[in-house]
Amino acid sequence: MSEGYSGARSPGISYQELLDNDTHEVPPVLRLEAEEYLGSADVDINHYISREFHELEFEHVWRKVWQFACREDDIPEVGDYVIYEIVRDSWLVMRTAPDEIKAYPNACLHRGRRLKDHPGQCSEIRCPYHGYAWTLGGELKEVPARWDFEHVNDEDFSLPEAKVDTWAGFVFLNADPDAESLADYLGDLPEHFEIWDLENRYTQLHVKKIIHANWKIAQEAFCEAYHVNATHPQILAYLGDTNSQVDIWDNFSRAITPGGTPSPLLEWVPTQDEMMRAMTDTRHDEPTPIPLTEDESMRAAGAEASRDRWRPIAGDRVDTMSDAEMMDNLDYTVFPNFHPWGGFNRIVYRFRPNGDDHRSSIMEVLFLAPYAGEKPAPRPIHFLEEHESFTDAPELGTLGKVFNQDLFNMARVQQGLETTRKPGVTLGNYQELKIRWIHAKLDEWCGVYT
Ligand code: FES
Ligand SMILES: [Fe+2]
Repeated sequence: MSEGYSGARSPGISYQELLDNDTHEVPPVLRLEAEEYLGSADVDINHYISREFHELEFEHVWRKVWQFACREDDIPEVGDYVIYEIVRDSWLVMRTAPDEIKAYPNACLHRGRRLKDHPGQCSEIRCPYHGYAWTLGGELKEVPARWDFEHVNDEDFSLPEAKVDTWAGFVFLNADPDAESLADYLGDLPEHFEIWDLENRYTQLHVKKIIHANWKIAQEAFCEAYHVNATHPQILAYLGDTNSQVDIWDNFSRAITPGGTPSPLLEWVPTQDEMMRAMTDTRHDEPTPIPLTEDESMRAAGAEASRDRWRPIAGDRVDTMSDAEMMDNLDYTVFPNFHPWGGFNRIVYRFRPNGDDHRSSIMEVLFLAPYAGEKPAPRPIHFLEEHESFTDAPELGTLGKVFNQDLFNMARVQQGLETTRKPGVTLGNYQELKIRWIHAKLDEWCGVYT
């Protein structure tokens, strides 16, 4: 270990010790441990408030990195397309053949109008301004009054393309022609997720909201469990917040926060019944929806109830899944902004700048759920209006309330950072390691050496 860092860990049971008591076999992926000490320096406040840093991110990150654009299921038929927007770039992500997806800059090669304004379906790509048209594959098809454009050469007028590739039903794009392959970029991530098979899931919900804070402030509200004690005190009784395990693997990382074990920060020791009440949001004078026998652990009972819930949909596979996969928050992050969760938690988050505004961002939550029988169509995006909060998306269930508690901090963090006289943000060495990792990566990509 390095000076100023002893490798200290929270009191209470470690995540690996908790796995030792699992009632089912724990998958090897949860046994991996990959801590990396990234120093204890403050993160430069300019990462959140400076316009210059926003421009660096645009040029060196968003125009260079592999990023999640949509699900394959969003564009199932040839000619289906979505528009993926990132800072000042707009991409037309289109299924151009049954097994081919392309991403074109959403800009006409005549005088530059955006080719498409909304997601949809088309048999050719025709600009609404003067009617230039391209085939789905991007070849120039028609120039109205062609006699006046003798100088337009078909070869030079094919639509340019970004690199596109897929993993687990997610479509990724990369605007950099020299970028490494998606497979190289993701490294071992597909192996980690093999048992959770996100490809064979459907989009059960997709909620989108504008947040009045830099995209990293919004994202970082979901990168550690340290905030739970002050922001979500109602769940402390069953959440091992400071017992989280944090791991770093080059371009991806994870924070695992165990459920069904009490927070070490509590000054009292909750009973199994009290833990169950906290998880199921049940009053003391009412029976809990998941009954507990005398010496049953709440973690085991909660996991079994979850298996029962998913068995009709996911089949007997649930009986091979550990309590950990049923109860814990297995929150993975792929740099810079994509958060697929393991297990059946179903959550996927994405955070990005809200267009060219570095003081606001777009937060999205998807649930990728297993299904029985034919795959259901993805649910349409529920775009929450300015005046609406996450509880206006009833499909989020109890998460809506929790997200509102997170939301309550975000704009106020931006405001605080705009006024503070402190040049940096201080982070814990371990619990907030994921945040440190994201900023170290950003510095690396942006060519900032601290
Ligand atoms: S700008 Fe597209 S056809 Fe003129
Ligand atoms: Fe939170």
